[in-house]
Amino acid sequence: MIDYVNILRAGEIVGLPTETVYGLAGDATNDQAVAKIFNIKGRPTFNPLIVHVPDSHMIETFAVLKSTFESILQLFWPGPLTVVLPLQASHGISPLVTAGLDTVAVRIPNHPKVLACLNTFGRPIAAPSANISGKVSPTSVAHVKKYFPDLPVLDGGVCAVGLESTILDLSGDTPKLLRPGGISLEALEEAFGQKITITQSSDIINAPGQLSKHYAPDVPLRLNAQEAEGDELLLGFGEVRGDYTLSRGGDLQEAAANLFHMLHIISGQKRPVAVSPIPDTGLGRAINDRLRRAACKEEG
Ligand code: TXA
Ligand code: MG
Repeated sequence: MIDYVNILRAGEIVGLPTETVYGLAGDATNDQAVAKIFNIKGRPTFNPLIVHVPDSHMIETFAVLKSTFESILQLFWPGPLTVVLPLQASHGISPLVTAGLDTVAVRIPNHPKVLACLNTFGRPIAAPSANISGKVSPTSVAHVKKYFPDLPVLDGGVCAVGLESTILDLSGDTPKLLRPGGISLEALEEAFGQKITITQSSDIINAPGQLSKHYAPDVPLRLNAQEAEGDELLLGFGEVRGDYTLSRGGDLQEAAANLFHMLHIISGQKRPVAVSPIPDTGLGRAINDRLRRAACKEEG
């Protein structure tokens, strides 16, 4: 692990495991390191990155975290919840990380290896998912190596959650959901004791990076299909038995953990894919969000 921290200290980038997906990690306070992340990922620089920290004390060195919010966030941290907070006047975070915004997205990941790196490194780490921009996110070292064969990647096994973190905007007075993910909207509404508005990606003026086409496998997807047509493969769920299944027992947590792995597998099959319907509640909301973007033909 110390080798990886030394690479980060030298301003280089590494692949790190988290509970959601693997990250392409660099020192969030080092402009050159952050520029390398955008560069090798092919990511547009207007799309800001998430900053990873080991605990909320570190957040308080660069962002404004209200104590009322903090006590609620402790229910989910470490874990798959990212929050967007106002930056402090003097913060030290590279402006490339935030794409020049006056807010920053932060989270405390729940994986012992990345937490050990963060504690030893002692600085915030910027990390987008470790895939080429627009492609399917990686949930294993093998997936990361497919995109970046020469990148040093710390092996933390297969990601337990398998879907990116939920992004909650706490920069205003009321929380807004910017991206569904590993923590369900229902769990957040219960913890915050209020209804939480879902901001559609097209309305997000402060996150221009929520491009609709994303997570794209190399084959076309047709969603909400009960059965395959023509030479389609069928990706099933629950009752809908397919060539592959996200979860035979209809379990959304299992389906979330399997989703990107299945998208990587079908990408290699060179056949169009029909995907069975997934209930749009709990983690199903995040699964459907990723499937819609994966099936989307237009960038924008
Ligand atoms: O689970 C995760 O969140 C993974 C792991 C590696 O931590 N990371 C991840 O990063 O999904 P990425 O770069 O693929 O997605 C970051 C998202 C983008 O949609 C970006 O627009 C949004 O976070 N974001 C970052 N900073 C923001 C800000 N200040 N305001 C609004 N959205 C922001
Ligand atoms: Mg990503």
